[in-house]
Amino acid sequence: MAIYPIRTFPDPVLHMEAAAVSSFDDDIARLVDDMLETMYEAPGVGLAAPQIGISKRVFVADIGEGPFVMINPEIVETTGKWKFEEGCLSVPGRYWQIKRHDFARAEGFDASGAPVSFEGDELLGRVLQHEIDHLNGLLLLSHLGVRTKKIVLKELREASLGIAKSI
Ligand code: NI
Repeated sequence: MAIYPIRTFPDPVLHMEAAAVSSFDDDIARLVDDMLETMYEAPGVGLAAPQIGISKRVFVADIGEGPFVMINPEIVETTGKWKFEEGCLSVPGRYWQIKRHDFARAEGFDASGAPVSFEGDELLGRVLQHEIDHLNGLLLLSHLGVRTKKIVLKELREASLGIAKSI
């Protein structure tokens, strides 16, 4: 088991579409273990492999009901809308009211390659959508309105460059 550093905006790996996992071997089992340890240490309710610099379609999550993993997950059904204050370990310390679907169902595979399906509304539905976004190279910033996004991107870029705000 190992704890990885978490990549933060604007690390390019967060903006890449992650590659599908083709073999469910010991390396994937180890990756899943390391991701769970890294997620609990953070702490976070979800973590996608690109957030530790590994561009593979794997995420782990635990919304307080025990850990689960999804490999090569796809959203197969969504309904409703729900606005909720959302954050991301890769954009630390920032939270926004973000509108997503309320209910989501995702299908994928576990670490042994067996098919799994998870579905839920509110927090679980949101985690499924948020983590699968990561695998498609999208951060929660992509759900902000155009004007807010422009301001936030500028703030984050300046922060990452260490540019102090003058007033
Ligand atoms: Ni995130």
